Amino acid sequence: MCGIVAYIGDKPAMPILLNGLKRLEYRGYDSAGVSVIGAVSCKIETVKSVGKIRALENKINGKDGGAKPSLDGTIGISHTRWATHGEPTVANAHPHLSADGKIAVVHNGIIENYATVKKRLESEGVKFVSDTDTEVIAHWISHFYNGNLGEAVQEALKSLEGAFGLAVICEDEPDVLIGARRGSPLILGVGEGESFLASDVSAVVEHTQKIVYLEDDDVVEITRSGFSVRNVSRQQVSRETREIEADLEIAKKGSFPHFMLKEIFEQPEALRNCTRGRLLLDEGNAKLAGLDNSIRELRSIDRIIITACGTSYYAAMVGEYLIEEWAGIPVEVEYASEFRYRNPIIGAGTLIFTVSQSGETADTLAALKEAKGKGATVLSICNVVGSTIARAADGGVYLHAGAEIGVASTKAFNAQVVVLALVALLLGRQRRMSFEQGIEITRAIGALPGLVEETLKLNDEILSIAKDYYKCTNFLYLGRHYHYPVAMEGALKLKEISYIHAEGYPAAEMKHGPIALIDANMPVVIVAPKDALFDKVVSNAREIKARGGRLIVVATGDSAPLDEFASRIIRIPATHPALMPVLASVPLQLLAYHIAVLRGNDVDMPRNLAKSVTVE
Ligand code: G6P
Repeated sequence: MCGIVAYIGDKPAMPILLNGLKRLEYRGYDSAGVSVIGAVSCKIETVKSVGKIRALENKINGKDGGAKPSLDGTIGISHTRWATHGEPTVANAHPHLSADGKIAVVHNGIIENYATVKKRLESEGVKFVSDTDTEVIAHWISHFYNGNLGEAVQEALKSLEGAFGLAVICEDEPDVLIGARRGSPLILGVGEGESFLASDVSAVVEHTQKIVYLEDDDVVEITRSGFSVRNVSRQQVSRETREIEADLEIAKKGSFPHFMLKEIFEQPEALRNCTRGRLLLDEGNAKLAGLDNSIRELRSIDRIIITACGTSYYAAMVGEYLIEEWAGIPVEVEYASEFRYRNPIIGAGTLIFTVSQSGETADTLAALKEAKGKGATVLSICNVVGSTIARAADGGVYLHAGAEIGVASTKAFNAQVVVLALVALLLGRQRRMSFEQGIEITRAIGALPGLVEETLKLNDEILSIAKDYYKCTNFLYLGRHYHYPVAMEGALKLKEISYIHAEGYPAAEMKHGPIALIDANMPVVIVAPKDALFDKVVSNAREIKARGGRLIVVATGDSAPLDEFASRIIRIPATHPALMPVLASVPLQLLAYHIAVLRGNDVDMPRNLAKSVTVE
């Protein structure tokens, strides 16, 4: 989604901004731009381009055939855009300028009442040059500007509705950078005589590890010597400066051709980090420090709602099955985008979990707020430390899966499933789960990293399957019980990066519709480990075979009679049946990856998608 990087200090701003934008590239975008207040010209100079940061860089360096702009200032703002209002064009790219060209704005989020404000400005004679909601902000700030940029921003924001992270500069005040947020993430990086604003710490971590997480409705005024944060009523508020760990490795692919493949192969390590210190092998239990404050409350809850989006939603579905089975607590899983507008019933004993890799997904954050507003305790399961959702929740568990850069989530999915398994174990041991069963499950969770390593050895075999199938235009993914969410996630992975239409379905439900689609051109991936429902899944597989469908089966151990009629069998290791989703999802990730690469797609930055969706 849109990314913001801004700088004020004593160094040339441009290289810092470009570098920061490159660090945000993984989040997904379609155009980019920068504005700098020129050291010599004292004017705002802006360069924008469509496509990758490389195109912007070429324009800045005069390598695109045009004149080389003199972007020599030490204060500037920059942006990667993911189109919401208006197509990805140079005119719609940020920064956007006020009519007199003196104020420049970059924006992450959506201004919901932009049409009303635009009408008002147009009636005052303002001419708009883009189709964006952001341009309204630039003109609106200019409307209130009276020599103090901070005041003008604050005044303008009073009447803007929606979500925003903003960075603003004004050529009449070359020593001031303004940042503001409501809903969309924005952090301040504090260096020696220099400061940074960014939508993601990864953009500034190479310069400073001192981070201030801005809160909703904060407006920060930054100069070269310091900063002050003010609230809506322009009162100064204090915000803690936190030291974060510098993790420059996060944006390096190493020997892997893509982040996605690297992250698939990092899963054993991610799961080791995710379970470290959390498995009480002698007690058959889990210890989750982030839930310590809620441990008493957890004993008395009688219902759980888990809310999430995308891949996190499918991990939550696995969590539902685990919690119901091990702890006997009824669980509902709901898309955050539905939950937030549905006036959900939240009783006194209802506990809410949000699941989010990024911790910034707008719908999940809104669902969290909705639940908190109704008096519920909300616990979060997030990967990104210090993310908005993690901070807004009453407690929670971090995945510790390491930075996930590939837009298609892989290692975070499995870490989410494992964290939910730990939660289910903890809740189960508070209730009906025996010591013996607890021991069996803790051991099985502890063995998962090694088994994922084994599973990854199937990579070459899966590549050969991908070579046979990558030209297909439709896929069906089927699974039952724990593997229904796995089938859904497998189909999502494929469509996200290969652009092949794929549907995930509960295997038995297939006969109520999707079976009509099956013919020799429809490969069906069926997840069929040897578990209590194996024979039933075999029957579903036969129904497909009888209609000429081609079967790719994910199986464990002795998979007869499937071997007789499956086109391909991927044989994965076995573990406790409830933990099989962790192993079964790995070949589906690899299959989607190889198919997408064979089709020549940009696997890490698939079209139209964003890593972190900070708009509704
Ligand atoms: C986007 C990403 C998905 C992700 C979803 C939820 O759509 O492309 O990979 O699953 O957002 O993100 P979250 O960070 O909340 O898990």
